Amino acid sequence: MRKNMHTQVNSQYKIIAVDDEIGILDSLKVFLSKAGYTFVGVTNPIEAIEKVKNEHFDLMLLDFLMTPIHGDQVVEEIRKFNKDLYILLLTGHKDLAPPLETIKRLDIQGYCEKSDQFGQLLLLIESGIKAVSQMQLIKNINNELQSTYDKLEASYMETIEILRFTVEAKDSYTRGHSDRVAEYSELIGKALSLPDADLKTLKIGGLFHDIGKIGIPDNILLKATKLEPNEYSEIQNHPAIGAHILSNATIFKDIIPIVKHHHERFDGKGYPSKLAGNEIPYLARITAVADAFDAMTSRRSYRDSLPLDVVKEEIRKNSGTQFDPEIASLFLNILDNQPDEINRIMRNLKISSYSHGLYPWLLLLQKEIVSVNTFTISFI
Ligand SMILES: [Fe+2]
Repeated sequence: MRKNMHTQVNSQYKIIAVDDEIGILDSLKVFLSKAGYTFVGVTNPIEAIEKVKNEHFDLMLLDFLMTPIHGDQVVEEIRKFNKDLYILLLTGHKDLAPPLETIKRLDIQGYCEKSDQFGQLLLLIESGIKAVSQMQLIKNINNELQSTYDKLEASYMETIEILRFTVEAKDSYTRGHSDRVAEYSELIGKALSLPDADLKTLKIGGLFHDIGKIGIPDNILLKATKLEPNEYSEIQNHPAIGAHILSNATIFKDIIPIVKHHHERFDGKGYPSKLAGNEIPYLARITAVADAFDAMTSRRSYRDSLPLDVVKEEIRKNSGTQFDPEIASLFLNILDNQPDEINRIMRNLKISSYSHGLYPWLLLLQKEIVSVNTFTISFI
């Protein structure tokens, strides 16, 4: 009874044996089928590579000295597309085995001398199959964890998106602005050859950088006239409020520095923490340039978008005071060398679907942010 159960379990596992001696394959077939394994024997090593490419096998028993290619070359080919297959090398005599160096490099899990007695081989196969099943278990757990994490991330993203849309419904300036800041930031990140994880952080950070405006009273956020000093200082709370909102979910921990510090200035005169130079988180320095660029190139109720040469000059003038000079100079290069990409972001995302649709009344509620006359790039 127990033997039957064992045999049934083994039949889940598929073993391929490659040996140019048909007699060996026949013996292995009898022996391993008796042990319950599903067995496939192949005499041609090239054919074996193709079989592994097209079918799933858990374990391979591989002869070393074969024609037209040796066992180590078979493994070399297989490892190009399959890192998981458990491989045991069979050798005529241990002196004829490949050097240990080769066995390690090709990730061959073990080798065994051929013999009429298959006892030792069976032990190696059984421990190999145990390793395969553990690896499968770990893979399944990882997949489950990943899918749970993805679901969690998606639901947090949805929640924060709702908050973002709420801010955008309140403040027409933010509409489209966050999407563009996200894209410009990512463009700068790519020019800096930042790793994918940083590019993702820049993108999400750009989308949510002004999320804290949800906590600013409407009478201030939507004020059409110039802000009083106390109102301006109230509005300066939005980075800290945003960071606080996002701090409730660990998946946003990487974007919090962007949200919290996108209004810091390189000379230390920004807010909320008055950080200077390299104290300002690097990605926040990138978002700051992208944010300022979009503020200047956006059309506002009181002015048209500023001409690109004026915008470039402002970035140049404020490099080293407001902006990190290296990022400012890199962005100026992007503006000169990637005009199509810049235009695409402006064109695709600058048309506000709300403007002529659901909330036309919001257009009346614009607020002075960038002071064009004095042209300090002060915006929220
Ligand atoms: Fe902001």
